[in-house]
Amino acid sequence: MMSNTSLLIVDADPRRPEEFRTQLKSGAYVLHAAKSVREALATLSSTHINLLLCNADLPGNEAFELLEQVRRRFPQTVVLMFTAFGTIDGAVEAIRLGAYDYLTTPVSAEDLRLALERAAAQHALLAEHRKLKRELELRFGLESLVGHDYRMLKLFELIETVADSTVSVLIQGPSGTGKSLTARVIHRLSSRRDRPFVEVSVAAIPEALIESELFGHVRGAFTGALSSKPGKFRAADGGTIFLDEIGAASPALQVKLLRVLQERQFEPVGSNRTERVDIRVICATNADLEAEARAGRFREDLFYRINVIALELPPLCERLGDIPLLAEFFLRQHAGPRRALEGFSIEAMSALQAYPWPGNVRELANVVERCAILARGSRIEFSDLPARIVEPLGSPALRGARSARGTLREALNEAERLIIEAALSTHGGNRQSAARQLGVDRTTLYKKMRRFGIRAVGRGRRRRNPQTSAPPPRNIQEASPASASSATTSGATTSNTRTSSALTGPTR
Ligand SMILES: Nc1ncnc2c1ncn2[C@@H]1O[C@H](COP(=O)(O)OP(=O)(O)OP(=O)(O)O)[C@@H](O)[C@H]1O
Ligand SMILES: [Mg+2]
Repeated sequence: MMSNTSLLIVDADPRRPEEFRTQLKSGAYVLHAAKSVREALATLSSTHINLLLCNADLPGNEAFELLEQVRRRFPQTVVLMFTAFGTIDGAVEAIRLGAYDYLTTPVSAEDLRLALERAAAQHALLAEHRKLKRELELRFGLESLVGHDYRMLKLFELIETVADSTVSVLIQGPSGTGKSLTARVIHRLSSRRDRPFVEVSVAAIPEALIESELFGHVRGAFTGALSSKPGKFRAADGGTIFLDEIGAASPALQVKLLRVLQERQFEPVGSNRTERVDIRVICATNADLEAEARAGRFREDLFYRINVIALELPPLCERLGDIPLLAEFFLRQHAGPRRALEGFSIEAMSALQAYPWPGNVRELANVVERCAILARGSRIEFSDLPARIVEPLGSPALRGARSARGTLREALNEAERLIIEAALSTHGGNRQSAARQLGVDRTTLYKKMRRFGIRAVGRGRRRRNPQTSAPPPRNIQEASPASASSATTSGATTSNTRTSSALTGPTR
């Protein structure tokens, strides 16, 4: 049995916990007691409880209401019920609602001990299952959040740790990095997952309406308020409210938000009746809120209140390793039964990794969707990518260097070789002109040509490929078959060949 299993006993009779303690004797349980559902929920919120033993005969239907709430909000807690008036119906109902066991009192010390031991084993099993599932998710992401860059892995760990608490979370990061998605994942991983997730974009609602939108209003509160309307905070009761673009909150709204965050209470517009809510608050911003607070543009007290846990989403260009994973993930979403899409050619993937992604993951998702629709083959090729991604990559020489693998020295040599070949071919093999263009003297150029095994590309060879109007061999395979080794796989070689005719031209 697990040592130090925490056990919460819920019974209106204050003598009950002592009675069970005497029966259990062993120090294997840390006992907690609650006399009502409210007290039980408070303990569950503040303490990690493994097992809950509840009197089914609490007034009204309270015991079953508690059981339902525990199943929903604290699914890791295993519930047992006990009753002095055991009926088959009661037992069936308890088990149907998710109780693990149903005992009839008086219960012998032996039966109580056995029931709790079985429940503790069940708890351990559930915990192990959750751990394995988490480990699996952490390899490639968390829920629908994909990533394996070390900063993302750290973030996933933090999300997992804080998801099931009520601490406020502030998610920061540039647009399109996944802030809204992260907020939804936190909600889904929390015990509030079956309660509402209410999203409010503070910047999108006009200032005159935002208070009524968030806190609701009573009839006649302002011109046009023909009936009372509950606000978003009320709608989110029991669940999570996500305040997106919190940095756009006006000073007046900031004061109101501070109060609701501190006291979990507010008054609807036009009313002096205070309402209480049980909510988890997640905020997001793409502004540097700390700097805003320092500059006096955002209340510091509110900043510290919402920033209890800070999650920083890095821009996509700072996690290049995640690009292949995300691109494949988005591609899978668009490949249907009619259309098998195998993935990306090496050159296409290199181009995706070379692009700076100002629109971050959102932009990548859109690009992959476009490619999936327009791609002609079963694989996304370099030529399937939008112009804004391929054009800055410039000449084939630079593209080749970008897709080169190996050490920095090897990559630099490769780039140098390709640039020399390109210059030679531009000048029809004329070494003097090529040297002039490259800003080196002819001897240096000869030496480098020998070192890289570049054979002279004579004027006579310009016509080698009569089908194309492009200048002679700019494509690395044509210029020097031996040097094609820089392309890492036959896939890349094929794609180089295919794309060169489309992309190389006199202006490139
Ligand atoms: N790590 C990720 N894994 C999978 N999908 C992601 C990831 N990050 C972002 N996305 C997807 O990218 C798109 C943009 O993400 P999201 O809307 O969460 O960004 P945001 O940071 O909230 O942007 P904004 O600041 O513009 O509101 C969404 O379609 C989202 O599902
Ligand atoms: Mg967003």
